[in-house]
Amino acid sequence: MKILVTGGLGFIGSHTVVELQNQGFEVVIVDDLSNTSLSVLEGIKNITGKIPVFEKLDLREKNSVQDFFKRNQDIAGVIHFAASKAVGESVENPLLYYENNINALVYLLQELQKKEAANFIFSSSCTVYGQAEKMPITENAPIQTAMSPYGNTKQIGEEIITDTAKVTDINAILLRYFNPIGSHPSAEIGELPLGVPQNLVPFITQTGMGLRKELSVYGNDYPTADGTAVRDYIHVVDLAKAHVIALKRLLDKKNLEKVETFNLGTGTGSSVLEVIQAFEKVSGKKLPYKIVGRREGDITEAYANTDKANTVLGWKAQSTLEEAMASAWKWEQKVRS
Ligand code: WQD
Repeated sequence: MKILVTGGLGFIGSHTVVELQNQGFEVVIVDDLSNTSLSVLEGIKNITGKIPVFEKLDLREKNSVQDFFKRNQDIAGVIHFAASKAVGESVENPLLYYENNINALVYLLQELQKKEAANFIFSSSCTVYGQAEKMPITENAPIQTAMSPYGNTKQIGEEIITDTAKVTDINAILLRYFNPIGSHPSAEIGELPLGVPQNLVPFITQTGMGLRKELSVYGNDYPTADGTAVRDYIHVVDLAKAHVIALKRLLDKKNLEKVETFNLGTGTGSSVLEVIQAFEKVSGKKLPYKIVGRREGDITEAYANTDKANTVLGWKAQSTLEEAMASAWKWEQKVRS
C-alpha cells in the first residue's frame, strides 16, 4: 500500500515514516525542505534499511499538487504534516501561515475528492482548545478562539476537512497532539529546530550542550503546584505509532464517522520545572536557568484525557517523560558530535 506523507522529512513526519515502513507500507514523502534537510532521508534509511520515495514539492503551488497526483494515482492514504508551526512567527507573519497551512490543505483535498474512499490523517493540535476549562481535556472540550494564527489554521483546517468529508468520499481522522518531544531511540532522526528553539525541550538540550547560556523559564506565577506552566509531553515515537493505527483504522473502514477526532497525549501534566528535573536526572547535568516573565499567549495548563484514544483507537503512549528526555538528550549529543 502506497502512503503519501506530506512534510515527511519533518520532526513528527520522519518518525511516522519509520513506523509506516516498519509496518510494511510503501511511503512517498513530499516536503518543500523549508524547515528540514535531505539528510533526514539518510537517517530513516539507517533505521529501516528502506529509502522512501522523496519528491521536493511546495504544496502552495496548485499545479504542482495536481501534477503530483496525476503521476501518483495509487495512493491509498495521506498523512498531512506539511505546515508552518511556530506560534510566535505566525503572529509576526500571519499570511505566510494562512497560505502555507490553508491553501496547501485545500489543494490536497481537491485532489483527494477525485478519488474513491480517500483516507486522510490530519496533524492538528491541542492548541485548538486554548486554555480549556476542565483538565484533563477531552475531545469534546469547546474549541476556543485561537490565541495565534498558527492555532487558527489548525481550527480552520479541521473545519475545512469536516465540511469536505460531508460531501465527498474522503474519510478523515484529526489527531490533536499535545507536546511532542524526544527522538527515535537510535538517535538517527530527531528534532532539528533551525535557529533559536522556540520549544522547551530542544532549548533545554541545547543549553545542556552549552550551545545556549541558560534557559529562560517563562513565568513561575501560574496557578500550578510549582508556579510554572503545565503541559502533556508525549514521546514522538508514541505519537508516530498513533498515526499508523489511525491510518489502518481508515484503510480497514473501521471508522464510525466520516471524521473522527483523537487527543494524543500521555494523560499526565508536567510543569516546566519538572521537565528540567527530568533532564537533570537523565543527563546528570545541572541545567542553568532563570525565571523571567510569562510568554505572550501561553496558557497555564493542558493535558489530555486519553480515554478515547485508548479505547476507540486502541492506542496508549508508552514512554515516560524521563525516557523521552533521555532520547532527546541522546539525539542532541549525537547531532553535535
Ligand atoms: C512549553 C512550555 C512555555 C520555551 C507549542 C504549540 C503547540 C506545539 C508545541 C507545534 C510553556 C515553556 C518554553 C522556553 C519556557 N507546536 N517554555 N522556556 O507553547 O506548549 O506548544 O509548541 O506543533 O501547538 O502551541 O510548547 O515547548 O513552546 O512551551 O519556559 O524557552 O515551556 O512557557 O509553558 P507550547 P513550548
